[in-house]
Amino acid sequence: YIPKIVVCGSCSVDFTTYAPRLPNHGETLHGTKFVTSFGGKGANQCIAAARLGGNTYMISRVGDDQWGQKYKDNLKTAGVDVTHVYNTHNVTTGIAQITVAESGQNQIVIVLGANGHLSKTDVEKSKELIITADVLIGQLETPFETTLEAFKINRGLKLLNAAPGRNDIQEILPYCSILCVNESEASILANHPVVSVKTAVEAIKKILALGCATVIVTLGENGALYASKNDPPTHVFCDKVVPVDTTGAGDAFVGALATYLVSHKDYPLHQIIGAACEVATISVTKEGTQTSYPTNYTPFTKEYKYETL
Ligand code: RIB
Ligand code: NA
Repeated sequence: YIPKIVVCGSCSVDFTTYAPRLPNHGETLHGTKFVTSFGGKGANQCIAAARLGGNTYMISRVGDDQWGQKYKDNLKTAGVDVTHVYNTHNVTTGIAQITVAESGQNQIVIVLGANGHLSKTDVEKSKELIITADVLIGQLETPFETTLEAFKINRGLKLLNAAPGRNDIQEILPYCSILCVNESEASILANHPVVSVKTAVEAIKKILALGCATVIVTLGENGALYASKNDPPTHVFCDKVVPVDTTGAGDAFVGALATYLVSHKDYPLHQIIGAACEVATISVTKEGTQTSYPTNYTPFTKEYKYETL
């Protein structure tokens, strides 16, 4: 039996411009390059997992425009099962307009399109798959009530990447095995600014108190922090690199996390997080999201450094 990793979430086409820096309000900048690529947090996470050898399934919606079929083909090429990728008539596929600065920083505006139509009825149609998923992954680029419904019926590990950030997701937290957020999403959820490891520890305690079993806060080049009901906050470190494009690094982390949670079940969480950080670190050294996710990566060749706080 090969454990199933199921993503219920978004597929978007990314329109990315590269520029020397991010523009100021009202400013027009000359960019250096324009690239169209496959993105969306849900699909990014699914593809990251597939590249690392995960047995992946995608539940999502694409439009009936020029992108829908191309997107499905892209998933298939990566080895993702697309039986539950549905077409939506008279709606565009989700898109993201992204600007990447030379520093590696980015700015993103998304238009949900078909992603906004992923419904509870779709959950019903994909019921069997959702119930039996060993890992079910959700994000916040598709309707919240749909993700909530899927999380309610699944019997495996439920991983919520609460991105883009919002603070009205209390209802789903008791169903999350692991909640994964970055610094800004943690700030929003905890209503507590996260600007350092110390403030991240404060925020993680507040988020835990909201009712999820385990919380991970990714800290960019500083690795990640996790805590659960029984584990004290623990900081996992990662190697520093010169970033080229940080877009989708969080998705690489989530996809890798899901993969190693099933393939290395008996490893301590700090080591699984260490390996996921390493995959995310590789992704920031290359342009794009899915295009930057590694295929031939061997995890756990070293002990990842961590510190219990
Ligand atoms: O997390 C990165 C993703 O966010 C991009 O691929 C873009 O589609 C946005 O949704
Ligand atoms: Na990248």
